[in-house]
Amino acid sequence: MEIKKVGVLGCGLMGSGIAQVAAGAGFETVVREVSDELIQKGFVGIEKSLSKFAEKGSITAEQQKAIRDRLSGTTSFEDLADCDIVIEAIIENLDEKRKTYAELDRICKPEAIFASNTSSISITAMMTATSAERQQRFIGLHFFNPVPLMKLVEVVRTILTDDAVYEQGIEFGKRLGKVPVRAGDRSGFIVNRLLVPYMLDAIRALEEGVGSIVDIDTSMKLGLGYPMGPFTLGDFVGLDTTYYIAEIMFDEFREKRFAPPPLLKRMVLAGLYGRKSGRGFYDYKDPKNPTPMNLV
Ligand code: CAA
Repeated sequence: MEIKKVGVLGCGLMGSGIAQVAAGAGFETVVREVSDELIQKGFVGIEKSLSKFAEKGSITAEQQKAIRDRLSGTTSFEDLADCDIVIEAIIENLDEKRKTYAELDRICKPEAIFASNTSSISITAMMTATSAERQQRFIGLHFFNPVPLMKLVEVVRTILTDDAVYEQGIEFGKRLGKVPVRAGDRSGFIVNRLLVPYMLDAIRALEEGVGSIVDIDTSMKLGLGYPMGPFTLGDFVGLDTTYYIAEIMFDEFREKRFAPPPLLKRMVLAGLYGRKSGRGFYDYKDPKNPTPMNLV
């Protein structure tokens, strides 16, 4: 089966980015959200990103229009019925995901591939909400924020994934212009397995007084050439998301290095989620000049 039509579930930060990249790679792409407002919000973000590429000359005005024309939004699952692959990027909640997959399984054609963009929930736990046939056509496709810029996609297989379907997942990643890596269905896959303990350790170092927010960030940027230090990255990813991923990984591995430190928990309880809420490790009152918060 050749992949021609792509379905995306969720038009938030990740879903809209995935839809943009799929339409940009030439696929007819339909995005499903729960309301027209959320579709519009996602499409505004896509338009902004495409305009940045157009301003830089990476795409022409005609290509920008063609990408837009290949994209459509819907609030109905039925509009995904003829998709060859459906990539889910909804809320990181296993029950919600299982409910969604069970419904989609009834609607989508039997040969369609189901993929999840989850960063830490078990692919196996989601796939069992679908029929035995679909379970062999179930993979993880984990993208990175901002999706239009980040080159990596983790392609995840379970113990039941069909070999040919998995290879199709790898090829599809390449057709999206990404570099696919192969990962097994272990919570966090490759990137978060290494990233999460690093970010949590940075918080512990801050709590212990090893260095300030700015000095720890500067050290990792200038000492190792990372594009963002751990606190800037945490605020960018979202501290609620980071906390949630850490909890799931701690639950899976029962290892101290995945346990969220008390400061992270307090920040999430206090609504300091990072950039999206205006405050995290930094205060974004002036978004171009974030100032470090006084947290310890
Ligand atoms: N679409 C198009 N262009 C964009 C864009 C978007 N969504 N976002 C930024 N850009 C462009 C900017 O316009 C800018 O263009 P110019 O160079 O022409 O000015 C360029 O990209 C660089 O952006 P900035 O100057 O704003 O900032 P930067 O140089 O720091 O780059 C960045 C931004 C690419 C995000 C870079 O900081 C980076 O790579 N950071 C690390 C991101 C990262 O680690 N992401 C993974 C997070 S983990 C995850 O997603 C998964 C998980 O499971 C938690």
